[in-house]
Amino acid sequence: MFSGSGSVDLLIDKVGGVSQVIKQLTGSQGVGVSIIDTRRGVKSTLESFSKSGIRVLLQEYIESSGRDFRVFVVGNKVVATYQRIAPRGDFRANISGGGKGVPAKITKGE
Ligand SMILES: Nc1ncnc2c1ncn2[C@@H]1O[C@H](COP(=O)(O)OP(=O)(O)OP(=O)(O)O)[C@@H](O)[C@H]1O
Ligand SMILES: [Mg+2]
Repeated sequence: MFSGSGSVDLLIDKVGGVSQVIKQLTGSQGVGVSIIDTRRGVKSTLESFSKSGIRVLLQEYIESSGRDFRVFVVGNKVVATYQRIAPRGDFRANISGGGKGVPAKITKGE
């Protein structure tokens, strides 16, 4: 939580990057996850959520062309992986939001 626009600026600087992702804490399946590409957009949106008492998480946007990996781990062993590809025009790869799942392996480093 923050108060006053000065601390919003500090928060935005700390997270870094041009684009930032705002996530409502109560969301799942990609609902309540937004990307904002301008600083003034991030600032005004954070202030709106704050005023409405809605708790959010702010993250740097990680460029991944709308792709992510789902990795299932049992104990300390990776047992299954697949890649998810976001629908055109979206950055969220959730299957429930129209994303596509394709077989994929991850490298040892990943
Ligand atoms: N910081 C980020 N940078 C780039 N893409 C992101 C970022 N955070 C989320 N995404 C994309 O948006 C999708 C949804 O985000 P996330 O998984 O955090 O929310 P959720 O699926 O609603 O929540 P949960 O996985 O906890 O049920 C991710 O699968 C990923 O494709
Ligand atoms: Mg998710």
